[in-house]
Amino acid sequence: MVTLTIDGTEIRAPEGDRLLWAALDNGIYIPNLCAIREADLPFGACRLCFIEIEGKNAPVTACSEPVAEGMVVHTRTPKVNRLRRTAFELLLSHHHLDCRNCFKNTNCELQRIALRLGFKLKLQRFRLIPRSWPIDSSHPLFIYDPNKCVLCGKCVWVCQEHSIGAIDFAFRGIDTRVSTFDNVPLIDSKCDSCLQCVDVCPVGSLVRKDNKV
Ligand code: FES
Repeated sequence: MVTLTIDGTEIRAPEGDRLLWAALDNGIYIPNLCAIREADLPFGACRLCFIEIEGKNAPVTACSEPVAEGMVVHTRTPKVNRLRRTAFELLLSHHHLDCRNCFKNTNCELQRIALRLGFKLKLQRFRLIPRSWPIDSSHPLFIYDPNKCVLCGKCVWVCQEHSIGAIDFAFRGIDTRVSTFDNVPLIDSKCDSCLQCVDVCPVGSLVRKDNKV
């Protein structure tokens, strides 16, 4: 165990552990969407977990930064807040924002982050890039709406690590989305209905048909 300071609070954490988990385990909130504790390598896609470390000349992501003795970390500096706000708004710029009619309303990580950080769930600086990809409701147990996906990769990771790898990222650039092999409907894919992807989805992209989300 080593000792470090986050936002003026001294904590102890295992050396080499990721800063994100060290902070969260000690009750210090750092927003995150794509981090998976069990994953060997951080995905680093959402860019919400930026922090500043004294001695480093640029902010780094807490999900990828290993804990070290004597670190002094700041999670709420103006630079960090600016970066997070931009990352958050970029996520919203291609997210189908329809909270009122979403199964995940009040149980959505985007909503929680907005509440914790005082962000608005609406675009202010960026324009909306509308998506209207088909919703896949072919599976008897769950629905996949790619228009609400935030590309956190959690469903892909859990499907590949703990199930049979029925889904992956497909297409490129702003067309990137989670898809089955050859983009076939879920019912025709090799999905084994474990529903782990649904359980890890932080937003309303993968939801159970019985609405027990
Ligand atoms: S949680 Fe660190 S980049 Fe997403």
